[in-house]
Amino acid sequence: MVEFKFDPAMLKIIRPEPCDESQVEKVSPFVLVIFGGTGDLSRKKLLPSLYNLFAEAKLVDEFSVLSVGSRQITDEEYRSMALASIRENSNPLYDDQKANDFLKHLYYHSHDLNQAGHYGELCDRISAIYASHTHEVKHTIYYLAVHPDMVPEVIERLRKVELCQNAPNSKVIIEKPFGHNRASAIALNKQLTKVFDEDQIYRMDHYLGKDTVQNILFFRFGNSILEPLWNRNYIDHVTITVAEDIGIESRGKLYEQSGIMRDVVQNHALQLLSLIAMEPPVGFEAEYIRDEKVNVLRHIRPVTDDHIQQFMTAGQYGQGVVNGQNVPGYRQEANVAPDSKIPTYFAGKFFIDNGRWVDVPFYIRAGKRLASRETEISVHFKFPPLHLFGNQCRELEPNVLSFRIQPEEKICWQLNIKRPGILNQPQTVPMIFDYDAMFKDRRLPPYERLLIDCIRGDAMLFARQDEVEVMWSIVDPIIQYWNKNVPQDFPNYQSGTWGPKSSM
Ligand code: BG6
Repeated sequence: MVEFKFDPAMLKIIRPEPCDESQVEKVSPFVLVIFGGTGDLSRKKLLPSLYNLFAEAKLVDEFSVLSVGSRQITDEEYRSMALASIRENSNPLYDDQKANDFLKHLYYHSHDLNQAGHYGELCDRISAIYASHTHEVKHTIYYLAVHPDMVPEVIERLRKVELCQNAPNSKVIIEKPFGHNRASAIALNKQLTKVFDEDQIYRMDHYLGKDTVQNILFFRFGNSILEPLWNRNYIDHVTITVAEDIGIESRGKLYEQSGIMRDVVQNHALQLLSLIAMEPPVGFEAEYIRDEKVNVLRHIRPVTDDHIQQFMTAGQYGQGVVNGQNVPGYRQEANVAPDSKIPTYFAGKFFIDNGRWVDVPFYIRAGKRLASRETEISVHFKFPPLHLFGNQCRELEPNVLSFRIQPEEKICWQLNIKRPGILNQPQTVPMIFDYDAMFKDRRLPPYERLLIDCIRGDAMLFARQDEVEVMWSIVDPIIQYWNKNVPQDFPNYQSGTWGPKSSM
């Protein structure tokens, strides 16, 4: 018999030995046109992300950012506004010299989105920027960081001035939610595809840019011990929580149209569900992965009114205390109707009718102004078939695998061991993988990752049209149900709690 000897060198495999990221090909030159260049998203996320990519030399030397907005300000005025945002939001990479170098790539164009004539001027401005580039290829990315109501209008105007037609290198980025329901998502897509091909359209859901979210696939399909257990025979149920302690901040107008279903459930929560539940993809490529996500979403059992009534809850936050601060109720927020019926909380049970998951409940819970900020997926396994332990003094807990997405980034197992001592007691213990403890490097925030992927033409972390449509098919009936059966008990949870009592 061959003698087995423990070789400590084997442990080397657990040391992270990354490929050198500087070897990754730099992105090609580009002009990024941001509609909504003075808005919150641009100031808080897009400009700081672009600056960080620049500061870490991830962009080519030749690129320009043209921010488009309604304010009548000059390039210089815009640059000082951008500098303040970058200084505030680009820790730890902020550096005066680099920030000033970055600003040289930044331009501003004052523009009324509703004025047809203005789009001609915009074309001239873009041409003038290209004229200052030495690189001949035109690679223009249009980022629509505008109110969702404005998106169809902007696309239509872009079509009329033929800005992007026959420009194979043009791309467009659309923020979530894509459309307002399935019908409007189809209409919006029809309009977009008159101008862009599907592979030029990048439907943004920043959750897909989070490393911990991408890790779901690596963890599931990179470890052979999981796949045999990943099904209805071993898994009892799955919970997906997207809990926030913040309210709607200054977005009252937008939130009154979206509510929790369009803001978070139709996109972030269902994206998480699809990654946890999908079948193994044919390969690690955008289309293969998106195929499997769409497939599993299509298998979600359509919900009936009865099901919604029994297994789903809508909520709206009232006043309360969050992190020691008194906070107003949703109806007291700016630009919110004093009798608003918009839900800020959702909890519901879904089923996936395929061979892997039939009858395994998937619980989704999402809400604003809850007790704490927690995004987590927990996979709850069944009890072991034999009840050997825990019959006397201590209950045996089933195993749970949790993907902790934020605020801490961890993957935790809840396992059972023997508690030391003469009594044969089981004890449930955690086994934790902690990103922070393992990886000291700065992690790419989602917008940085997604911007760079779009510039490089990698759509894996963006939603495909069929994916968006099937997600709407899942949430549309729920939204409609509460439009018809308007909840009468709003506000039905206090800020700083875990939501309506009926959902607990
Ligand atoms: C956005 C929603 O998409 O995601 C916001 O519109 C929400 O309402 C935000 O607060 C949450 O993002 P994160 O990355 O902080 O979980």
